[in-house]
Order: sequence, then structure tokens, then C-alpha cells
Amino acid sequence: MRHDAPKPTCIDLFCGCGGFTLGMERAGFSTLAAVDSNQEAITVFRRNFPGVAHVFHKDLTSFPPTEMVKIIGAQEVDVIVGGPPCQGFSTVRQRDGSNSGPRMVQDKRRHLYRDFLRYVGFFKPKAFVMENVLGIKSAAGGKFFTKVQKEARAMGYRVHGQAERAAKLGVPQKRQRQLIIGTRSDITGYHINGWRRHQPVFGKPDFVFREARVAVFVDGCFWHGCPAHSCTPANNRQFWTEKLESNKTRDRLVTRTLRRAGWRVVRIWEHDLARRPEWCTRRIQGALELRGRELKKGTGNRQVPF
Ligand SMILES: C[S@@+](CC[C@H](N)C(=O)[O-])C[C@H]1O[C@@H](n2cnc3c(N)ncnc32)[C@H](O)[C@@H]1O
Repeated sequence: MRHDAPKPTCIDLFCGCGGFTLGMERAGFSTLAAVDSNQEAITVFRRNFPGVAHVFHKDLTSFPPTEMVKIIGAQEVDVIVGGPPCQGFSTVRQRDGSNSGPRMVQDKRRHLYRDFLRYVGFFKPKAFVMENVLGIKSAAGGKFFTKVQKEARAMGYRVHGQAERAAKLGVPQKRQRQLIIGTRSDITGYHINGWRRHQPVFGKPDFVFREARVAVFVDGCFWHGCPAHSCTPANNRQFWTEKLESNKTRDRLVTRTLRRAGWRVVRIWEHDLARRPEWCTRRIQGALELRGRELKKGTGNRQVPF
């Protein structure tokens, strides 16, 4: 982002004391508004983020976006984020027994995702991120997880679920979080189409663009000897040294063989996919564009069978 460019904007729903807002502000966003129904949470949020102009102490079920927009005045919002309450989906609650059964099933908070989507449908942000516990995926046989995605798709979003380990993202917690991420379908550059998995191509690439003859490998840091993260286990050292070396030799052989057969090969480290997915996307797009130009000029080798 250029320094003089206006910051992209976001709204934080179910903002609590502002964990999500903190992440968004660190990522360069400006928070237009935040909403929570809990007075204490709002007090803490205001202390944490005195620069956020509109912090609403409101129940989202009775505070529609049409009302919010009258106050904040902004129709355009780049991203809506929010973590609706997770108690209704928590597996901890299921396990302790005290809250299982009808109390859990009838927990009205399970339906608050609708208010989140109501805001998405109104503002039509470029993207949204909804955060919850992993239990949302399995609760009621996956009904809620499916509903959120289906309803967002019907509103014109490409949607996917993504589980994240908080600790891997630099948060000192062992918790895992389930994200549901949507990007508006007309936004280009965030999606790559045309790939297939499990294709019978030498070396078993993770993603294959058969038409373009581009093979993408996502190499696990440990097994493929990533210079930043791979380490040889202390036990059975000789076995592991030989094993990891032979994996690396095979990777080189696969890359060479495919390239000789006219394929473009993209190798991505597992850690890059987790930390900078947009960079990985750009690399794949770059390979596809190059291949597209080669094929136009007739220099792409499409004759060699594989
Ligand atoms: C999981 S917490 C959100 C945590 C927050 N994302 C953060 O990073 O700190 C859920 C929040 O939803 C709020 N909440 C629950 N029901 C609500 C409602 N009907 N309207 C608005 N906020 C609500 C709770 O007060 C709680 O702060």
C-alpha cells in the first residue's frame, strides 16, 4: 500500500474489546464503526481504540445497517469482520454436559450469523471475514456452517472456510479458530480458476492446470527440507538425514522432468502458503500468464505427453 493512499475501511460487528479491530488496524485498515451489545465490552473497546469514531452499544438484532448508515454516513466499506458469539457451537460446552441438550440446541446466539450477513448484504463489502470456534463446522450436522456459506454465495460472494491456529499467527494461545471468508465475485485477482487435484501427472502435483501445463507443488517444510524450518530429528539421525535428502533429490528430479516435458513448475513452501497466500497466488498467476503468452506465440511445448 502506498503511504499517501487512503486506508481501506472496515466495520467490526460483535466487536467485544476489539481483538479483531486490532488485527485489522495492524493490517492497515481504518475502522469506520464497531458494534457490541455488552456495555463493559464497549467501554473497553472505546479505551482501546479512541480513534474509532462510531462505537455502538447496540443489539445487532435490532440495529439494522440502514440505521447505522444514517449515523456513520459511509456507504462504502471495504471489509466487514465479526465474531458472533461462539457459545452455541462450542465443543467444550458439549463435553461438560451442563449445557448440552436443548439448552445448547435452542441457544438463540446460533442465529446471530444472520445479522452479520444482513450487514454484508447491505454494504456489499469487497470481502468479509466471520470468525468462530471449530464447533460451528460440526454443530447440527454442519447446518450452520453450510447455511452461512450458502446464504453468502447467494448474495454474490465466493466463500470458503479456513481453520487457523492462533499460535501460528503470532497470538500466544493454543486455540484454533474457524474462519468463513467471502470475497465479492466481481473482485478479480483473488481467485484462480481451472485447477484440478489428484491428476495423474508425474510427481503428483498438488494442483494441476492441465490446459496450461502448469504444475503447482505445495512442499511441506519438514518433509521437503525448507531452509527456514526443516530440522533433522535428534533420534534416528542417520535415517532422517538420508530420508530428507532423498526427498529433496526426488523433488529436483520431478521438477526437471516436468520442465523437460514442457510443463511450468511452481513450488511453494507450506509456510508461504500460510503466511502470504496472496504472494503464492501471484506466483501461480504469473506462471499461468507466462504460459498463456508462450502458447499464443506457439513456443509452449504442448506436444509431449504426460
Ligand atoms: C466472541 S465475542 C467477540 C470478540 C471480538 N471479536 C474480539 O476480537 O474481541 C462475541 C461478542 O458478541 C457480543 N454480542 C452477543 N450478542 C450480541 C448481539 N445481539 N448484538 C451485538 N453484540 C452481541 C458479545 O457481547 C461479545 O462481545
